[in-house]
Amino acid sequence: MKKTIVCIGGSKGIGEAVIKKLLAEEHHVHLYSRTIPPEVMSNSNLLTHVQYDANDVFVADTLPEEVDGYIYFPGSINLRPFERLSIEEFQADLDINYLHNVRILQKVMGKLKKSTNDASVVFFSTVAVQTGMPFHASIAGAKGALEGLTRSLASEYAPKVRVNCISPSLTETPLAEKITSNEKMREASATKHPMKRIGTADDLANLAVFLLSSESSWITGQNISCDGGMNCLK
Ligand SMILES: NC(=O)c1ccc[n+]([C@@H]2O[C@H](COP(=O)([O-])OP(=O)(O)OC[C@H]3O[C@@H](n4cnc5c(N)ncnc54)[C@H](OP(=O)(O)O)[C@@H]3O)[C@@H](O)[C@H]2O)c1
Repeated sequence: MKKTIVCIGGSKGIGEAVIKKLLAEEHHVHLYSRTIPPEVMSNSNLLTHVQYDANDVFVADTLPEEVDGYIYFPGSINLRPFERLSIEEFQADLDINYLHNVRILQKVMGKLKKSTNDASVVFFSTVAVQTGMPFHASIAGAKGALEGLTRSLASEYAPKVRVNCISPSLTETPLAEKITSNEKMREASATKHPMKRIGTADDLANLAVFLLSSESSWITGQNISCDGGMNCLK
């Protein structure tokens, strides 16, 4: 069954890959983002774009009549020694990864609860929550909050709305460009992964589209690693 999915962010990286797959499966996508790639726009009969910055107030009037899915993409990679991280940096990471998502989802939840089409919510955490990594204090704290939110909301809204979270390891996207564009750092990271490569946007998009679809209708409250084995294998 075709769904109507609200996507926050998604003009590039994992979000762009998810939106392309959703449109290819003929779902309706309501994309809230600062920019939009032209090739995605060409399938415009299924795509509605609302110019939006997640730092701004979310206006619920712009939502479609029915909402069967919600996915939030904005995130950050701010890796610094703990004592050199300012409290403002902690706050900024918490805002973009967690609090903005909370504020928006509070306004979308009413519509998700009314869905008769297996409503599903998907968040993105990071491998660095389950596996301690140096210099990840700020991002791990913010994404850890998101993992707690996942389980709590999944419990509160079952059986009406499913809520799941995906935890990637290093993935080739504009967000990770500083690391992946450096051949030495990229190779070193690939070697650390049991699967001996870093992730692609499609690796993550395949899982996200599955979690949004009714093929995953008995999965809720989960944090699912998609990380080349990084979080649990030696
Ligand atoms: N890539 C990795 O290695 C990695 C690893 C672990 C976790 N993750 C998580 O996976 C998620 C997706 O990451 P990604 O690598 O695909 O990131 P990305 O390449 O930076 O893409 C993020 C998307 O969010 C949008 N966005 C960012 N800030 C926004 C804002 N203020 N308002 C509206 N939209 C905004 C961006 O679009 P515009 O700039 O056009 O608005 C972009 O489409 C993130 O939550 C990230 O933390 C990624």
